Amino acid sequence: MPDILPFLNHEDIKRLISALAKRISTDYRDQDLVVIGILKGAFIFLSDLVRQLSIPVEIDFIGASSYGQNTHSSEKIRITKEIDIDILNKNVLIVEDIVDTGLTMVFLVEHLKSFSPKTVKICALLDKKERRKTDIHIDYVGQRVAGGFLVGYGLDYGEKYRNLPGIYRLKLSSSEEKL
Ligand code: IMP
Ligand code: MG
Repeated sequence: MPDILPFLNHEDIKRLISALAKRISTDYRDQDLVVIGILKGAFIFLSDLVRQLSIPVEIDFIGASSYGQNTHSSEKIRITKEIDIDILNKNVLIVEDIVDTGLTMVFLVEHLKSFSPKTVKICALLDKKERRKTDIHIDYVGQRVAGGFLVGYGLDYGEKYRNLPGIYRLKLSSSEEKL
């Protein structure tokens, strides 16, 4: 197993989420909102975020897969689970753990727009902005991060580490380092 180094502890994450939740609750005050989490990575972030919102929301998930068992972005994205809620004429907030190249997000925004929602905005706990290959705008960002590969709090490396309460930087050997 590769080494991991602490990056954000659970208290740090709670602070980021509380700030995001305040902004979202204010912006969608008196409006309908469907929160759509991207599986699997966003499941823990979404569950903490929605419990800090002071507005009523509907919750759904969409499954997308782009990374295999390593840290390569295959640049090929497929839907692994479709949404169940009808989002026609509704405000949609996509919730993601981390945006890297932005290819997954561009694909999902286009996909969700095909259901004719009223608005689509994006919330990401972490944003690797320097690595972007698209010009997608993230409306709500918890924290910007430089490069490297992060695990924990929903984020995985080969499906492992998702259950860690904090976020850690993965120390990959040069042969494993693909970023
Ligand atoms: P993108 O399409 O390149 O933006 O990749 C986004 C997807 O890759 C997200 O769904 C993330 O779950 C995953 N991802 C990107 N960076 C990391 C990371 O540092 N750790 C774990 N997953 C990551
Ligand atoms: Mg993901």
